[in-house]
Amino acid sequence: MDHRPPLSPHPKDQTLALAKAELAAGRLDRASTLCQRLLEADTDDVGVFGLAGVIALRAGRDELAMALLGRAVVLEPDRAEHHDNLGLALAVAGRPGEAVGCHRQAVRLSPDDPVFQRNLALTLNRLGRRREAGTILSGLLARYPAFPGALSGLASVRLPGDDYVSVLAQLHDILRPATYVEIGVETGATLALARPPTLAVGIDPALRVTHEFITATRLFGTTSDDFFAGYDLTAELNGQRVELAFIDGLHTFDQALKDFINLERHAAPSAVMVFHDVLPLDAISSARVRRSGFWTGDTWKILPALRRHRPDLELGMVPAAPSGLLVVRGLDPASSVLPQVYDRMVAELMPLTFADWQARNREFSPVTIPNRRAAVAEYIGRGNRL
Ligand SMILES: C[S@@+](CC[C@H](N)C(=O)[O-])C[C@H]1O[C@@H](n2cnc3c(N)ncnc32)[C@H](O)[C@@H]1O
Repeated sequence: MDHRPPLSPHPKDQTLALAKAELAAGRLDRASTLCQRLLEADTDDVGVFGLAGVIALRAGRDELAMALLGRAVVLEPDRAEHHDNLGLALAVAGRPGEAVGCHRQAVRLSPDDPVFQRNLALTLNRLGRRREAGTILSGLLARYPAFPGALSGLASVRLPGDDYVSVLAQLHDILRPATYVEIGVETGATLALARPPTLAVGIDPALRVTHEFITATRLFGTTSDDFFAGYDLTAELNGQRVELAFIDGLHTFDQALKDFINLERHAAPSAVMVFHDVLPLDAISSARVRRSGFWTGDTWKILPALRRHRPDLELGMVPAAPSGLLVVRGLDPASSVLPQVYDRMVAELMPLTFADWQARNREFSPVTIPNRRAAVAEYIGRGNRL
């Protein structure tokens, strides 16, 4: 027996509007139940198929999403949105070739809509058609700077291969460090890469940890400056020095340099330190002040800083998406160079802009380490551990 309340007068439109509101509020289950009721009422309303398809897509029910959105396309073939959504469903179901056809149709029907162009580009990139994808995304960004998803899309088009999380996982695997320190933890996606017997320390004033840590991990909910002012890192590492560190906190070069200075004092002679966000993509995402969702800040200026003032360090760049990893070796815990020149160095680098990077990136850029595990292992001198 069906105990659900009967549909009220004009039920379909009201129920559909309610389902849309539930979806917008992120309540997928409720939105899905409402759509299910409409579908059971044997509707031929394209709006119901379209919405139920999007809900199924968000819920990860790829087969159902493709069926519902396919039906929406048949019922309303001139509506670009249905083709675009079907393209998204096909792409997540591992059918990017067919997805591209759908996205192209959406763009044909609605050529000026940036969402459809972005989705076409992202699916082309999945297919390895990077040049086409890059052209579309660059054109899109020229018209709509910082359009959601376009900057991060362009970043992955420009830097193919393993992403930064995979490269960090490789570093843990190759080095098997006794200690690991991460500045900038957020959800713990990268801190969770540490494995026993590594002792890990994570520092972040706004911890939002959702990942599980499988090795001994100490979390500090403070800024890195407060941490170094209030704690002795070596003591927190049970008397051991830092063997691997990842600097991914506040995305400004002066803070990243301070983090490096503080970490280097505690470094083991063979330590490896890794900076995130060192390859700028464009003027907006590489600016000091955040104006885009995808934002690397001006961390890229640590390259000219270290090249100019610490020529003794070995700097290697892994061009891993979305914004590169700078691998630093040859650390000297006794060095006082950076603290001594810090104020002058910051004043000197502060005015640099993305245009300067474009004009001088050869001068700023260090050795490039090909984005392959064997090359990363060879660079850090543990090729025999592969
Ligand atoms: C990009 S997220 C880190 C992401 C993480 N490493 C990963 O890859 O999954 C940057 C983090 O830095 C933190 N942060 C900002 N300012 C900081 C500071 N002064 N010291 C330490 N962490 C800071 C932010 O709270 C944010 O969670």
